[in-house]
Amino acid sequence: MNTLIPPALSLYVHIPWCVQKCPYCDFNSHALKADIPEQEYIAALLQDLETDIERYQLNNSPRPLHSIFIGGGTPSLISAEGIATLLQGIEARIPFKSDIEITMEANPGTIEAERFAGYQKAGVTRISVGVQSFEQQKLERLGRIHGQDEAVNAAKLAHQIGLNSFNLDLMHGLPDQSVEQALADLDKAIELDPPHLSWYQLTIEPNTMFYYKQPTLPDDDDLWDIFEQGHKKLADAGYVQYEISGYSKPGYQCQHNLNYWRFGDYLGIGCGSHGKLSFADGRIVRTTKVKHPRGYLAAFDNMVKPYLSDETEVDDTDRPFEFFMNRFRLIEACPKQDFLDTTGLGFTAIQETIDWAIEKGYIDESDSHWQITKKGKLFLNDLLEAFMVD
Ligand SMILES: C[S@@+](CC[C@H](N)C(=O)[O-])C[C@H]1O[C@@H](n2cnc3c(N)ncnc32)[C@H](O)[C@@H]1O
Ligand code: SF4
Repeated sequence: MNTLIPPALSLYVHIPWCVQKCPYCDFNSHALKADIPEQEYIAALLQDLETDIERYQLNNSPRPLHSIFIGGGTPSLISAEGIATLLQGIEARIPFKSDIEITMEANPGTIEAERFAGYQKAGVTRISVGVQSFEQQKLERLGRIHGQDEAVNAAKLAHQIGLNSFNLDLMHGLPDQSVEQALADLDKAIELDPPHLSWYQLTIEPNTMFYYKQPTLPDDDDLWDIFEQGHKKLADAGYVQYEISGYSKPGYQCQHNLNYWRFGDYLGIGCGSHGKLSFADGRIVRTTKVKHPRGYLAAFDNMVKPYLSDETEVDDTDRPFEFFMNRFRLIEACPKQDFLDTTGLGFTAIQETIDWAIEKGYIDESDSHWQITKKGKLFLNDLLEAFMVD
């Protein structure tokens, strides 16, 4: 068995409820039918964390938490008191790094001024606001519960209360969207001056309303123009792209997502959440929690039912693909040492593929780093497939 150096440890917390389900969304989110069982769910989350800590003996080799991401669903449906109880409970079980980043997702339709400040008081350092578009007609088409004014107010509020950082989620390639409309949305987002902007192209996912009743989306030429002109707008406004959809002002990259993409470790608590844990003895374990909120809560009722729906060890043969699939989302060069440390493999496992990728012009190599090229990004699937073993 190889040995490896366990990387930084993050924590993902899943809150599975939304006011209503958006027609494009395939996340594990459920439209609220009654009040959120807030206290019961937070108690389950903390029990989940405690069970993971014991199961994976994390208290024997404490790695302080590098970052926390409270995602969903719509975490801003939880009260500020609830978030405070949750964060205090987490810190009582696992220490925080002194400069920990704690992000929470919020839907502009569920934010009031008081709550925002309350989340900050509870320890949240970064809020990610799901704006999606500033155009009323597009927001309605996307089934959003908020209008453009609420999105603008949420961003202004984030500035006012002096959060360390905040993010706006914006989507493009929306139903019947012209290039001009997509760029106008981007202009409005830039005007609000968020330190971080996630700019996603809408994808049609199986098992969503849009999949069964497909809207008319911009064609490839328009999508290309949106990306090229939008990217330039962002760059001119001082935003640096550091990931496929991630742009930030210098120094404001999302530390939590960076840890995922650098093949870091993370615990996942909450229904349907995923975790990845590495051990000095060379094992890498992936975990998935029970997906449905009711089944998940039932597991913590009496601890008779399982709380894990899946636990698998990552084979040596799967590690190169998993490593590069994450790593090549990032624009930064990849230190070769990271491959050795986080996969526990040697270079011999990938040398042939690396040589092929250099020859194809997909990556450049220095003594210490690999860098994906422009061509490599265009042919990313081809590049990644080469690291797969049948
Ligand atoms: C997990 S969602 C949660 C955010 C929050 N619930 C909200 O919607 O305001 C995170 C982000 O993923 C993006 N997203 C969700 N579904 C998408 C899709 N099908 N295509 C592209 N982006 C998507 C949206 O920008 C969304 O804000
Ligand atoms: S609010 Fe966010 S998580 Fe909920 S359904 Fe809409 S996109 Fe999905």
